[in-house]
Amino acid sequence: MRALAAFVTALAAATGAAPALADPAAGHGNSPRVNYLLHCAGCHLADGAGKPDRGIPDMRGQIGHYLRTPDGRAYLAQVPGVANSALSNREIADVLTWMVPTFSRAEAPAASPPYTEAEVAALRASVPADIPAERARVIARLNAIGLAVR
Ligand code: HEC
Repeated sequence: MRALAAFVTALAAATGAAPALADPAAGHGNSPRVNYLLHCAGCHLADGAGKPDRGIPDMRGQIGHYLRTPDGRAYLAQVPGVANSALSNREIADVLTWMVPTFSRAEAPAASPPYTEAEVAALRASVPADIPAERARVIARLNAIGLAVR
């Protein structure tokens, strides 16, 4: 975590963001990228590769597919790391809108509306009880429309 904090501070310096904003306790005012690094990358790594051998999926070349169905789009805001995040609905909306094309541009629909604060609020308030089962349903529907999503 210390290495991550140092990295984020260096990143903030490199991008011209005030280092004081790189505070893990509050995402307010941070760019979506910095919020991702502070709130998500500890598990998902900076490049979205995750740790598949430890159950953290590789998001690269994958998560763009989910925007092709309404339930897939919803699922991205309902996984525990997102739904239970300390980030606000507005910040989550901005992180998701930044994250999908960053890690999976080729798979995402060409025109996909940004996530909105109200959308994220509604999705966080209606999280399916069984997220692994929901993921399986999302993948099955994508397969059914001809996408070879694993
Ligand atoms: C404590 C570790 C941890 C943190 C922090 C975390 N996640 Fe996750 N994430 C996981 C795990 C584990 C999964 C696999 C599903 C599950 O078991 O919840 C996952 C699944 C996902 C998925 C679904 C990927 C797929 O292909 O099914 C997305 C999208 C995601 N996380 C985004 C985020 C975002 C965005 C954040 C930060 C706001 C975040 N996560 C924070 C551990 C984490």
